[in-house]
Amino acid sequence: MNLSLNSSAGATTPYWSQTAATPTFPSLKENTETDVCVVGAGIAGLTTAYLLAVEGKKVTVLEDGKIVSGETQRTTAHITNALDDRYYELERLHGEFGSKLAASSHTAAINEIERIVKQEKIACDFERVDGYLFVPPDQSTDVLEKELAAAHRAGLKDIKLQTTAALNTYDLGVTLHFPHQAQFNPLHYLFAVAKSIEKQGGRVYQGTHVSSVEGDKQATVTTKDGHTVRADSVVIATNAPINDNFAIYTRQAPYRTYVVGLKIPKGAVRKALYWDTADPYHYMRIAHEEDHDVLIVGGEDHKTGQATDGGLRFSRLETWARTRVPQAQELLYSWSGQVMEPIDGLAFIGRNPLDAENIFIATGDSGNGITHGTIAGMLLRDLILDRKNPWQDLYDPSRVNVRSAKEFLKESANVATELLEWVKPGESEDQMQPDSGRVVRRGLKRIAIYCDTKGAKHELSAVCRHKGCIVAWNPTEKTWDCPCHGSRYETDGTVINGPSSADLSANT
Ligand code: FES
Repeated sequence: MNLSLNSSAGATTPYWSQTAATPTFPSLKENTETDVCVVGAGIAGLTTAYLLAVEGKKVTVLEDGKIVSGETQRTTAHITNALDDRYYELERLHGEFGSKLAASSHTAAINEIERIVKQEKIACDFERVDGYLFVPPDQSTDVLEKELAAAHRAGLKDIKLQTTAALNTYDLGVTLHFPHQAQFNPLHYLFAVAKSIEKQGGRVYQGTHVSSVEGDKQATVTTKDGHTVRADSVVIATNAPINDNFAIYTRQAPYRTYVVGLKIPKGAVRKALYWDTADPYHYMRIAHEEDHDVLIVGGEDHKTGQATDGGLRFSRLETWARTRVPQAQELLYSWSGQVMEPIDGLAFIGRNPLDAENIFIATGDSGNGITHGTIAGMLLRDLILDRKNPWQDLYDPSRVNVRSAKEFLKESANVATELLEWVKPGESEDQMQPDSGRVVRRGLKRIAIYCDTKGAKHELSAVCRHKGCIVAWNPTEKTWDCPCHGSRYETDGTVINGPSSADLSANT
């Protein structure tokens, strides 16, 4: 198959990228051989490469942009076993044993990050913090009691209902207290992990586009420049797999999530992780600067390509934050990211379905990308080293979960609705603002028009190269986003997120 990905993830700038200079790595300029080739240098790819390098495997990491320049740098980096999909839901979908394994794997991921931080002496502001789940104002707290009981059955016995104030600036009411959670600066952590991979003898290449992956006894990864990497195993860790062959993209859905960062006085807010049960939910944490703290608040999610009001969503987040933290000062940061939501709430980590035995994937962060990415590292290391791992069936990308049929039908219906875009009238071509995009109709053709900052118009086919849905303009990130399975493209049509492996076509 032919694959090609760039890794810039959008026009907004996440807070983390302003706290660290990205280390430089060379691009691949020759054919090479390796034990394991990892495609994608976010948390899943780099953790997998690191853990295998420590075991003595020769690893080669290929990243087409700069390392950690994709969705990992757009996270808010909550390191938690308080899972977004709730334990009572995971128990319904995976049974009590599955829910227990989910809890123990995410707890192990928190511990593993702490271990690596200590082992490699990484200065990344890693710290253990409490976590609090709460309901929106005027909502029943029954859901907290239901989650408490399910979390206890999942083995998280130290979780408790708490009536004392969790947040010192606003009354959250009754909360569910998750002790021993953690937070860090994900870029500081992963830049150090990448350097350590090199110290262990591994190689990291950036600016190296992968154009094809072929599994066999020995797999072959071919780059856009025509170089090859021959490997015993290949790991595709590119957010949405660029080698997806139907088995995955039908079972996970892409969502955009929004984040704001507000300046607050040092120590004004009790340091912890906070989440509410609203739909879509809100999440909050604190980061430290020398002379102030940053209140980081996220939420306002929507299905990718199905809303164009990012500015309004940032405003609503800001209002939500200021209500709960009246000491908040100026707005410093606004950015958005993409979350892949598997229909049964847990990531897909393991052998790629319908592919050769030595091709592995990690995808489906489900809003818990830091722990799922770390679980991917531990699980893929064990699979590649032929070791038993207690989590392998739970995260198996080939799993069939009939209990998630309702979620499957809901997402399939949503995709079917998007296909109706083919017959809808297009937008007007008149009076386009600079730096904006529209999808118009000319006869049977759908055309994506980008009006650049100087007013010149650039036309592309609006047909997503994955399965033919019509892309939509994302005015927040200045990208063309596909509403069906989350492929995203730059204004010039360059693909920046799978599952599409090809750029938008020219309008001919
Ligand atoms: Fe599947 Fe666009 S991402 S059709």
